[in-house]
Amino acid sequence: MLPLTLNKARRVVVCTGMAFALLGLAACSDGPDAQSLGPVGLNGAARQAGLQVGVALNVSAVAETASEQRRSAVREFTSVTAENAMKWASLAPAPGRYEFGPADQLVNAALANGQRVRGHTLFWHRLNGLPGWLEAELGQASDRAGRLRELMANHIDTVVGRYAGQVAQWDVINEPLSIVGADLDTDNVFSQLLGEQYIDLALLHAHAADPSAELYINETFTEFVPTKFDALLALAQRVLDRGAPLHGLGLQGHFFFQPPDAGLLQEQLQRIAAMGLKVEITELDIPLPLFNAEPDPLAAQAGAYADVFNACLAVPLCSGITVWGLDDANTWLDSFELTQASAPNRPLLFDDQLRAKPAYDSVVAALLGVMR
Ligand code: XIL
Repeated sequence: MLPLTLNKARRVVVCTGMAFALLGLAACSDGPDAQSLGPVGLNGAARQAGLQVGVALNVSAVAETASEQRRSAVREFTSVTAENAMKWASLAPAPGRYEFGPADQLVNAALANGQRVRGHTLFWHRLNGLPGWLEAELGQASDRAGRLRELMANHIDTVVGRYAGQVAQWDVINEPLSIVGADLDTDNVFSQLLGEQYIDLALLHAHAADPSAELYINETFTEFVPTKFDALLALAQRVLDRGAPLHGLGLQGHFFFQPPDAGLLQEQLQRIAAMGLKVEITELDIPLPLFNAEPDPLAAQAGAYADVFNACLAVPLCSGITVWGLDDANTWLDSFELTQASAPNRPLLFDDQLRAKPAYDSVVAALLGVMR
């Protein structure tokens, strides 16, 4: 086993073997700090490492009917994202009419647990991102672009305003680029009517609604399409050059097609940080069938999870990693058209009985292996 180096404050402690992570740090060679840390779960390890470790949830995970086992699994995370409840389509059943029940429940539960909340997402044109009424509403308007601007501004005021001081980060714009291409997606009502500047408008307005919130553009498939990653950076640079308040980039981290390439991912995170932007992995899932040919697929999946965490931990401006679902019984991949054929995808940290998987242990070990 390779020796692991712990950078603890200004001191370096060398540990051999991985068992130290589970047994506490008594296996490390020296130092009073090492003795006092003790065994910790995911939440403690994340706080110790200075990294937000989040989970995407639907309201059933925090409802009164949720089992104690589920609630305690939720508390393993330091950050919560609403998997669906904060999308425009979920919040607004009709133009100007809002129903905040599930979103409020998720936010209140997270805050009661001392967890950070990521807001996902204000503007997204795919899957369940857009309200069904939007097209008809714009169709009735004499000035479609003007009406869209108005609806966007109202949506931001209503939603960002409601959660001001509670939602720490907003994915203001989700997936602005074409799916595997390098250009702005043209099959997108926002860019069709307002051009690329719809991004700036949304950022400026969101910043006014909650100056304390960190504002993100969130993108998918950049991890294994280098031209798309370059396009995301170019877009972010144009947005910054035009003076819009962009604070970070989210890389979704849906590793459907291939496991993460640790070196490439770390380089990508570093390039974002070099622009002065924060970066988070916002929707991580790594399907188990990717490792079917390995002798121990769960161990290989655990290694892939560790790769992602180690890449982020190596970059100080990489401030968080969120996994897209609590447990393997609740993964969107099993019903998503591109991945349902390989169901059960078992891509998360807890299995379908809410038991911690080897991936959970490897993530805790990665977090305990570093102090930032
Ligand atoms: C997914 C949810 O997980 C599903 O439950 C829903 O049916 C569709 O949306 N990129 C995103 C997320 O930004 O909002 C998506 O979430 C997954 C892909």
